[in-house]
Parts: sequence; C-alpha cells; structure tokens
Amino acid sequence: MTKRPWWQSAVLYQIYPWSFQDSDGDGIGDLRGIENRLDYLVDLGVDAIWLSPIFPSPMADFGYDVADYCGIDRRFGMLADFDSLLASAHARGLKLLLDFVPNHSSDQHPWFVESRSSCDNPKRDWYIWRDAAPGGGPPNNWISDFGGPAWTWDAATGQYYYHAFLKEQPDLNWRNPELRAAMLDVLRFWFARGVDGFRIDVLWHIVKHADFPDNPINPDWDPATGEMNRVFQLHSTDQPEVHDIAADMRAVADAFGREGDDRVLIGEIYLPVERLMRYYGRHGEGVHLPFNFQLIDAPWDARHLARMIADYETALPPGGWPNWVLGNHDRPRSATKRGSAQARVAAMLLLTLRGTPTLYYGDELGMENGDIPPDRVRDPRELREPGLGLGRDPVRTPMAWDDSPHGGFTTGEPWLPLGAGWQKRNVAGELADPASMLSFHRALLAIRRTSPALTIGSIRLIETAGAVLAYEREQDGERMVIALNLSDTPVSVDLPHGTPLLSTLGDLPARAPSLLRPDEGLILKVDTPA
Ligand code: NOJ
Ligand code: MG
Repeated sequence: MTKRPWWQSAVLYQIYPWSFQDSDGDGIGDLRGIENRLDYLVDLGVDAIWLSPIFPSPMADFGYDVADYCGIDRRFGMLADFDSLLASAHARGLKLLLDFVPNHSSDQHPWFVESRSSCDNPKRDWYIWRDAAPGGGPPNNWISDFGGPAWTWDAATGQYYYHAFLKEQPDLNWRNPELRAAMLDVLRFWFARGVDGFRIDVLWHIVKHADFPDNPINPDWDPATGEMNRVFQLHSTDQPEVHDIAADMRAVADAFGREGDDRVLIGEIYLPVERLMRYYGRHGEGVHLPFNFQLIDAPWDARHLARMIADYETALPPGGWPNWVLGNHDRPRSATKRGSAQARVAAMLLLTLRGTPTLYYGDELGMENGDIPPDRVRDPRELREPGLGLGRDPVRTPMAWDDSPHGGFTTGEPWLPLGAGWQKRNVAGELADPASMLSFHRALLAIRRTSPALTIGSIRLIETAGAVLAYEREQDGERMVIALNLSDTPVSVDLPHGTPLLSTLGDLPARAPSLLRPDEGLILKVDTPA
C-alpha cells in the first residue's frame, strides 16, 4: 500500500515574509528572522510553512512582481540564508513551500527588458504584445484587477502589452513553448534544492483566449467592488488550455516526489466550485489542492455553511482531497470579519473539517485588520483605488512576539505599523494566558494531530436546527463530533454520549451537554462500545 501523502494530514501555515520577523533592523521581515522563529511554529503544531514570494523584486506588488525566479531578494537575505532556513525547517520536521508566480513577471525581469527592446527580439513572444485597436486605443476592454486598463502602450515598439495586475507586472505568454519550458525549469530549480511544494499564484489567469475578444460587460457592476468587476473575466481567465499547463507543472512535481517525500502543488484559484474542481484534473493530473476560499466570505449561518460543505464534498472528483482557508494576505482577517468570539468558532471549523487547512500568520493570535494611517499606505491596490476598503496593508501588519518596542518584530522602524492591541495580543503574552486565542489554537492543533478521525477521517453532517452547525468525523472506529454555535445566544443540542475534549470557551462542559453556550464550539469524542 502506498503511504498517504504528508500534505493530506498536514496543517499549512502561511508566512508573509515582510511581516513575520526582522533580524537585521531594517524594519522588514527576513529569512533569518523566520529561521529564528521555527520553534514557535513547531510548538504551535503546524506541519508546513508557505512563504509568500521571497524572490528579487522591485516590490511594486510586494514580491508578486518577480525580477528573478531563481534568487532571493536582498531584503530577505541570500540563497545561503534560504538553504539554511530550509535545512532548519526540515531538521524540525517542517515542510517548506514557496510561492510560484507564473502569470506575470516584473517589468524589470531581464526577459521583459529584452522583450520590449524590439518587435523581433527572440523574447518578444514571451509576453503578450498586441497592436492598437483599429481606431486606436487598447486592443480590447480588459481591465486590470487593480483598476484601469489592462494594456499599456509601449511607444518605442508601437504595441500594447497586457498585464492582469499592475503595468509593472506584464503577463507572460504561456502559449510560447520556450517560455513554458523556462518556467517549468524554475520549479525544477527549487525542487532540486529541496523545496516541498508551491502555492501557485493566480493559476486560473495564466492563459487567455487566443483571439482576445472583449469581455462581457457586467450590467450589475457595483463600483464599490473595484473597477475590475466592470466586466466579467470570461475571456481573460479560466481558459481550457490552463489544465494542460497545470498538468505539466504536476508532472514536474511528481518527478521529484518520493514516497514519504511528496511534493505538493496548491493553486490559487477564485472560481465557483464547479469550475474550481476542474483544477484537480480530469484524472487527478492537475494540482493537488485547488485552494478552496469559500469560508472567507461565507454568510455566517449554520444552514448555509452545512450546504456549502456538503456541496463542496459532493463536487470533489474521485481521489480529490479537500482543503479549507480562513484568510490570507489579500483578504480580511477572520477576527475582524467574524468578531473575536466567533473567530474561535471559525478556527475550530477550519481545523476540524475534512481536508488540509491553511492558517494565515497571526490568526492564531486573533490579529485584527490594522489601521493604516494615510501616509503609511503601501499597497498598490489601495493607492490606485483608495477608500473602497480594497487595500491589503491592514492584513499584512507585523507579527507581535512580545510587549517590547515594536513587539519584538524589529529593532528598527517597522515597514507597516503594528495592529492596535499588540501590547496584549502578542506571542509571549498569549502563551502565558491559558484562555488566549493562541492557547486555544495550540490545544486545537494538538487534538487534531493525534486524532486519525480529525486528520484523515470521513465527514458526515449532523442535522441540527437554528444556529448550530454539527458534523461527525470518523476513522478506524474513532468518532469525533464537532458542534458549533454560530450565535451569541445559548442553543440546545442533542449530542451523542462522549467526552468533551475542547471548547472555544476554555472550560469544558459536563459530558453530553444539552446546551451550547453563546459562541461555543465543542469537540466531543464519542463513546464507542467496549
Ligand atoms: C494574487 C496574490 O495573492 C496577490 O497578493 C497579488 O497581488 C496578485 N496575485 C498578483 O500577483
Ligand atoms: Mg530585515
């Protein structure tokens, strides 16, 4: 029998490198900082870390504009620091994933510098160049995800180039075989160094319709959601050809994997479930985990969540392993979105659903969206479409480790201000408090780690009424019931006999409670016949 791949039972932890730990006083987190904090992650009880981009970059989009796919940005360290971090992670049994940004490079990448140098440069076709529309102006109506046209005019060569994001992030042309080969070599470069997998940035964006037709206009566009939603991205994203590319990436990952040392690919894909499922591949030849972001925005209603979980489980292709996410560097903090009491319930949900969960750094402390004064705004999304609440700086504020100046994050001036309340909401303070969000996460992760039912078991939703969401996980005779009160009033429940293992409220209720207290989530180990 082949061993189950490690990532199915793992808990992933996303680190935003700018904000985790600074080691050299420049106010920006770095690789040595991360290495110094690995023991924290081991004690927390996670299995793998994913680092948002650490490659050389002009940082127009904070590393999602890569100028060299096979190097390390000097702000974060050197290749030797990376090798050291990887070795230290592996020595502690932690896996390490990097962020692959295949849709676009930086406009400072030597490939683009060449590409824009002339129309007959051999790298011209590595990017997406088009003539102006017949009457002048951009080739079509596609809009950048950050607002404004997705085409920028290059006066020197008399053509437009396409960029789904900033003009500093020209899209690569995955229809060009040489570009494709060069990008797959990037994966090989890092796999050969020992990297355990990749999160793949905007995977559903990487091929566009070959004819570049206009996108359909969205008749119900709400300007408050950003200009990108003025059109439906019908022709600019999710094209059938993307699946062959995902399969090519998968083949590279598989070629490096060994039993017990599988390499994993996780696709960042924001699509409705049915279309998301195609990214597993028709026969499982796509990415291992197409990110499932549904929990981030889901209405906080028990019936709605139960339906969402059931539909997702049903939609999974044979052999497709589920996954769940509560937050990331682009989306509101769970503690802000749900409130601090329900954020615990949300964490219990994330870490007890069937599938691989990804935790966003700081959510284990209950970090909230930070307040960013206007003169400290850094995110291009906010700078381009200000005031709509689309900016991402608030969810990227530095981690607080203790109550020393700047939370022990840096001895210098932090690149973004720490979020309010860090003097109390920091690692040292929360470790000392058994009722803290951090202590709760540690307990939850410890229970999960030793429970086959919670890590790899089946899931069955339990019929409930009102604000209760409940389900059972089962594996090898071990049965766990999870019952979550999504409201701030008490609700009655009918639970099987068993031992309560953990409550979001800290203290454990009696056996077989008939009531869930306000904001209470409970894990109960069901009695099994002797
Ligand atoms: C998705 C990333 O998560 C986001 O941070 C970035 O701005 C865009 N892709 C462009 O790379
Ligand atoms: Mg630094």
